[in-house]
Amino acid sequence: MSEESLATDPADPDLLRLRDVTVRFGGLVALDAVSLSVPPGRVTGVIGPNGAGKTTLFNVVCGFVRPQAGELRWRGRVLSRHRPHDLARLGIARTLQGVGLFPGLTVLENVMVGADRHARAGFLADLLALPRADRDERALRERALARLESLGVAEVADRLPGELSYGVCKRVALARALVGDPDLLLLDEPAAGLSAGEIAELAELIRGLRDDLAVVLVEHHMDLVMDVCDRVLVLDFGKVIAHGTPAEVRDDPAVVAAYLGEEVRDADAEAGGTRQSASEVPGA
Ligand SMILES: Nc1ncnc2c1ncn2[C@@H]1O[C@H](COP(=O)(O)OP(=O)(O)OP(=O)(O)O)[C@@H](O)[C@H]1O
Ligand SMILES: [Mg+2]
Repeated sequence: MSEESLATDPADPDLLRLRDVTVRFGGLVALDAVSLSVPPGRVTGVIGPNGAGKTTLFNVVCGFVRPQAGELRWRGRVLSRHRPHDLARLGIARTLQGVGLFPGLTVLENVMVGADRHARAGFLADLLALPRADRDERALRERALARLESLGVAEVADRLPGELSYGVCKRVALARALVGDPDLLLLDEPAAGLSAGEIAELAELIRGLRDDLAVVLVEHHMDLVMDVCDRVLVLDFGKVIAHGTPAEVRDDPAVVAAYLGEEVRDADAEAGGTRQSASEVPGA
């Protein structure tokens, strides 16, 4: 990745832009000419039935998956060869579908892992155990603690993830994503597995983030999407079927049909798992 991609193109107001991005896995088209603009200071929702391509879209942004066609721009510059380890430096952070904490690290250590954008002591300093590495480590520890505190989970800093409730682990994962002060935060189903009360707190939290960064939210909980998103993109079988304000997409017949289709598919499969309930279907 060139340093050039860290610069900003003043002519492009969007932080992130995808144009006609196509991803195929063998014969399966996971994303089909998908375009998306993510402006700063906004929450952009990406919704769609299971398998619609939402996580794949995040994987493209993060450099895990290379699209076969289309273009990705970050601050107006094309990103084509970035790798996941470039993300912190670019200012992009993500939370994983699920939790994704390291089980053998404490909460604090898990959060410190997310902060390499600001920990610059470098390999040589570490190797020689120079004072600068100590200073950086201390500063990093303080930043991580401050993040945990701002998310209301500082008291579990020394615990292991396995000892904590799912909701607390999700907060820790969020602290880890935020500790590097990203300009863009990708949230993959942050509400999954949370109680109604925890989802309400999450909504408040996401709204608060908007002052500092852009958020892209992948989520099945429609109440949360409708509540916090400024714009929503709807995917179905890898295609964009709607794009607009939450109210616009909720009333869009193509969206309603896509979710009704999923209900039928669910019924066929006698799902009984974690698929959407009727209350999570837009417009229901
Ligand atoms: N690495 C991969 N190899 C092969 N197929 C994949 C791969 N990743 C995703 N897919 C397929 O691509 C399609 C889109 O998957 P993706 O995980 O992006 O969906 P999603 O919208 O995130 O779904 P969910 O709501 O269930 O999380 C699915 O059919 C999935 O099986
Ligand atoms: Mg997914």
